[in-house]
Amino acid sequence: MRIFGCDAKTIRMIAVFLTLCAIITIAALYHHSWLGRVPPIPLRVTTRRALIALIPPGNGPIYELGCGFGFLAINLARTFPARPIVAIEYSPLPFAVAWLWARVGGYKNLRVWRGDFLATPIPAGAVCTSYLYPALMPPLRDHLRAQMGPITLLNVNFPIPDMHPTHSITVPRRDTPMPDEILVYGF
Ligand SMILES: C[S@@+](CC[C@H](N)C(=O)[O-])C[C@H]1O[C@@H](n2cnc3c(N)ncnc32)[C@H](O)[C@@H]1O
Repeated sequence: MRIFGCDAKTIRMIAVFLTLCAIITIAALYHHSWLGRVPPIPLRVTTRRALIALIPPGNGPIYELGCGFGFLAINLARTFPARPIVAIEYSPLPFAVAWLWARVGGYKNLRVWRGDFLATPIPAGAVCTSYLYPALMPPLRDHLRAQMGPITLLNVNFPIPDMHPTHSITVPRRDTPMPDEILVYGF
């Protein structure tokens, strides 16, 4: 069978390609329309390294709240192979990439969950990391306050209202005079 001069094998390949494009487009639209209020942009490498260096020592779990495509989560899993790392993401496309990356990489200590971290219990002794957006700071604060602490939060760039960080550092950026800021909070 030939359509527009193409043989059956070529038509099958075009059909598979178009189907994949449609799936990716629908997933991306789903993400950007009502589920994802923040794009899954990873932290800059220098900021990521600075944040990892600030993680308090210990054996407790590390929760990456809104892991996007999984860049920070994978680096946490590599740096702390003896600690459980839980990466939570609710947007389907970034979640799928992070989940696949964790599986292919064989990171035994990393679990990638699809869900809302605001509905996820966080255990006492956990360290949380987040790089989100300002409107999420009050619900994130309220959620962490409702847990049985202590919990440490390393939050990039957006201060938590009505709380003082125990400490903070700035990380210079090449692309803008505004540095990234990592704020550490205790709950
Ligand atoms: C800026 S990205 C994080 C990037 C990641 N920290 C890194 O460095 O690779 C923020 C992510 O948080 C996710 N997100 C926002 N609110 C969420 C929620 N309540 N539950 C789960 N994921 C959420 C967004 O979908 C987005 O992918």
